Amino acid sequence: MARKKIIAGNWKMNMTPSEAVELVNTLKSLVVTEEADVVFCVPAIDIIPVVEAAKGSNIQVGAENMYFEEKGAYTGEISPNMLTDAGVKYVVLGHSERREYFAETNETVNKKMLKAFEHGLTPIMCCGETLEQREQGVTMDFIRQQVKVGFQNVTADQAKTAVIAYEPIWAIGTGKTATTEQAQEVCKAIRECIAEVYDEATAEAIRIQYGGSVNAATAPELFAQPDIDGGLVGGASLKPDFGKIVNWK
Ligand code: G3P
Repeated sequence: MARKKIIAGNWKMNMTPSEAVELVNTLKSLVVTEEADVVFCVPAIDIIPVVEAAKGSNIQVGAENMYFEEKGAYTGEISPNMLTDAGVKYVVLGHSERREYFAETNETVNKKMLKAFEHGLTPIMCCGETLEQREQGVTMDFIRQQVKVGFQNVTADQAKTAVIAYEPIWAIGTGKTATTEQAQEVCKAIRECIAEVYDEATAEAIRIQYGGSVNAATAPELFAQPDIDGGLVGGASLKPDFGKIVNWK
């Protein structure tokens, strides 16, 4: 099955609103492609100016997190309806940095997944192992658990539209991209896990990204893999080189 690639930049905690508009204006002509969905996942405060600046181009806007309630006494949080009202289409959930620094768990990720679908947002659900887990040989078990719990009560039709981002923690921000073989092996195992939880059709439809030091040099081989449907890109998405990643072919 031909799945359209999806290449998303995860800006993390970077770019003030004025810097965000400047970066979008720099990148928008460089990321024109028919080969992939292009998403800029930006900090909440940037969302509106970026949406305004990106409007009319092939750039979709995503958020980097959201809460699993629509409103209430949750100081500092942002709700799904705030995101959709601002024109946001995607939301990154369960990034390893949120699991590490903000006590995100598989269970809270699952609550956010269900709420994202309820509001018509497409989740990009992150999973990935630590170097210690890889060295202990428990990578697959750990990631299967993240996927199974994250997708609890998500319907097959919803899952077909979702995105999973495999991001080995030891490759994030380190410049040590996983090898093509490592990335393909885990993305294939994630797709097999989805087939077990749902069925073959759902496994074939869901898109699985690789993330972790993706750059213009490593993108072509990674994106050519049968089970890698694009990338979730951190540092390199803040530079003009992101255009080369989006136009990897
Ligand atoms: O979500 C993507 C991010 O974790 C990868 O960061 O800088 O290694 O591309 P980076």
